[in-house]
Amino acid sequence: MEFKNLAVLGSGVMGHGIAQVAAMAGYGVALRDIRQDLLDKAIGKIRWSLEKTASKGRITPAHAEASLARIRPVVDLADAVSGADLVIEAVPEDMALKRRVYAELDSAAGPGAVFASNTSTLPITEIASVTSRPERFIGIHFFNPPQLMKLVEVIPGERTGQDVTDAVSAFVSSAGKEAVICRRDVPGFIVNRLFIPLVHEACHLMDRTGATREEVDSAVRFRMGFPMGILELADFTGLDVIHKATSEMHARDRGVVRPHPSVAELHEKGRLGQKSGGGFYDYGEGNYERVALSEELAGRVDPAHLVANIANNAAWLITNGASDEEEVERAARLGLGLRIPVFESARKAGLPVLVSELKKLESEFGPTYAPDPYLSKES
Ligand SMILES: NC(=O)c1ccc[n+]([C@@H]2O[C@H](COP(=O)([O-])OP(=O)(O)OC[C@H]3O[C@@H](n4cnc5c(N)ncnc54)[C@H](O)[C@@H]3O)[C@@H](O)[C@H]2O)c1
Repeated sequence: MEFKNLAVLGSGVMGHGIAQVAAMAGYGVALRDIRQDLLDKAIGKIRWSLEKTASKGRITPAHAEASLARIRPVVDLADAVSGADLVIEAVPEDMALKRRVYAELDSAAGPGAVFASNTSTLPITEIASVTSRPERFIGIHFFNPPQLMKLVEVIPGERTGQDVTDAVSAFVSSAGKEAVICRRDVPGFIVNRLFIPLVHEACHLMDRTGATREEVDSAVRFRMGFPMGILELADFTGLDVIHKATSEMHARDRGVVRPHPSVAELHEKGRLGQKSGGGFYDYGEGNYERVALSEELAGRVDPAHLVANIANNAAWLITNGASDEEEVERAARLGLGLRIPVFESARKAGLPVLVSELKKLESEFGPTYAPDPYLSKES
């Protein structure tokens, strides 16, 4: 199985980036949205991005021009998917909407076409069940912005054929990205399973210890090897995205995250992070200034509970057959920019110490903290 022609449904934040990445790799792409003005805006953004990439010397002007010419903006669904052998769906994260889109798509697309959803948190197997082709349905989770982020999580559903997983992984590589297979359709897949609970745990840690945001973030950056603080990363990602992912993951498995009220509160107040001028931090107008974090501030907080949280979720993924240690570390490095592997931090802190801290937290706050057997086994 090999793909030549793609259709991308949805030309928003993710869809226009995915279309650009595929076109740059030589694929013909039909980019579909529900209105022409949305497509015009998307094509404008793609043109700008291609010109910028060419001006930096990363591609030639001819490559930029040819890539743009390979993208065909189209409103009519039947027209968009005619001749497509891979359809990547990037419509808003709403199960009812996705169900409607797939029901319509299933009758419009050719019987051999593979459907790949860019969902961050919705169950692949459940979306696949709306179609007549669950064996040709898969998750393809690009990260924002797709033009820059190397990682793509590939998530087979319960009935996805191995040939489809292989062909989609090969497509990801051919587009210059790195595929990490999440072998089971679990809430949050790999990266959000590590990331989303950690944002909430950082808030719980501040409550428990009285540490400031800057102190916690400094510990995350300087002692755990993140490229920025975890609250800073939440602001960068967007509190709307974090809130939505939290709700979906919590709805699927109440044990996966212990939601801290500040995420929902910031979301309700419209403090969505950098894009709205403030979230956990204030950014003001114009250029975004990095939050002042330092090694000195990092020394004031023991990040053991945060290390325990991310390591316990990594361990859960391994125990439950969604991944293995090497692949979890690759996903964390590429998706979160982590410079120190999760299990290196965990072993440095001492696995028995982390297990005992998790047990204490479990007895006080419930089963979200139950230590995964992989941590005890490895210690
Ligand atoms: N934004 C992120 O950081 C991010 C990261 C990874 C994955 N995702 C996932 O990608 C998907 C898209 O998210 P987004 O942030 O690009 O959303 P977005 O709101 O920016 O874009 C969605 C686009 O889909 C269009 N649309 C709505 N109904 C449609 C239909 N029936 N057919 C075609 N297009 C339709 C909308 O008009 C809009 O332009 C979601 O599943 C989301 O969870 C988002």
